Amino acid sequence: MASNYERHSFSRFLVLLLPLLLQFHSGKSELQLNYYEQSCPKAEEIIKQQVINLYNKHGNTAVSWVRNLFHDCMVKSCDASLLLETFNGIETEKTSQRNFGMRNFKYINTIKQAVEAQCPSTVSCSDIVALSARDGIVMLGGPRFEMKTGRKDSKESYAAVIEDFIPNHNDTGSLVLSRFQSIGIDTEGSVALLGAHSVGRVHCVNLVHRLYPTVDPTLDPDYASYLKGRCPTPYPDPNAVLYARNDRETPMILDNFYYKNLLKNKGLLLVDQQLTSDSETLPFVEKMANDNDYFHEQFAKAVVLLSENNPLTGDQGEVRKDCRFVNTN
Ligand code: HEM
Ligand SMILES: *[C@@H]1O[C@H](CO)[C@@H](O)[C@H](O)[C@H]1NC(C)=O
Repeated sequence: MASNYERHSFSRFLVLLLPLLLQFHSGKSELQLNYYEQSCPKAEEIIKQQVINLYNKHGNTAVSWVRNLFHDCMVKSCDASLLLETFNGIETEKTSQRNFGMRNFKYINTIKQAVEAQCPSTVSCSDIVALSARDGIVMLGGPRFEMKTGRKDSKESYAAVIEDFIPNHNDTGSLVLSRFQSIGIDTEGSVALLGAHSVGRVHCVNLVHRLYPTVDPTLDPDYASYLKGRCPTPYPDPNAVLYARNDRETPMILDNFYYKNLLKNKGLLLVDQQLTSDSETLPFVEKMANDNDYFHEQFAKAVVLLSENNPLTGDQGEVRKDCRFVNTN
């Protein structure tokens, strides 16, 4: 007769084995820290070095890496679908109205080439999207944190459904919160993520409705006249590079000036300013405006959640050789 101990350890053995068996069965596995430890030990170092080099040449690349993470991971999965070009029946996501203003995609290829030179066909474009955002955040004076890897790249684009995931610049606060909620990010995390709008720019097409024909009454009057100076006509040519900075005080630093500005009615987009008119979000805005470390902590936590949204792993998807095209073999 088996002793209690033996029965115990056998059932413990089963408990340990079961998830493994299930994993093999579905071909799905988990993201993990240092996924490339064996296959490409320098992967994270190479990516970081490239992010630093690019930042030194074109500071706004770091800003782009942060926005890429949102626009890739929010839409179904962190799978670099964002990077695909229109080719062979695939419609690029890059030209979607929601992705207006995105830039620096060509430098993703620079990072990918540096990684490919060391470790061909090993490191996914989706991990490059994730790690470049993580390292870009550090270049912008944001928090340092660890990020898991092991994402695989999609073989498809979600251009047709982007608007079901990425909110518009003038959507309601409740819609914005529900979109983040649906990927497991709570109200506090959503308020923290929007703090990314502490860096970068907004084109006039996304601002003029707050200025013309009448100025949005929630907008600080001095700030409104500054914005009218930046965007002098109600019908800006979308191709003209007329824009305003997200944060005039520290436009290239990921800090809590975003929240301080909101409390002074100097939010740029409607989705930004609305964070102060909702009693659910206002307390978080106040807390983040008062404490940059707290903002950084919440921002890092929410970025990690965003980066882990529904990844392709194991034998799902592929590792693209060129981030712009699915593999042809
Ligand atoms: C409700 C959610 C959001 C909406 C509606 C939204 C909308 C926008 C819009 C309209 C722009 C300006 C584009 C242009 O005119 O060039 C912008 C810029 C930007 N967004 Fe968001 N955004 C949202 C959330 C986020 C999140 C969660 C992140 C990152 C964590 C992010 C990162 C950025 C960055 C970094 C820029 C500046 C890009 C640049 O200067 O090139 N956004 N966003
Ligand atoms: C939001 O802005 C878009 C343009 O980006 C415009 O077509 C739409 O009418 C606006 N919606 C609301 C509710 O103001």
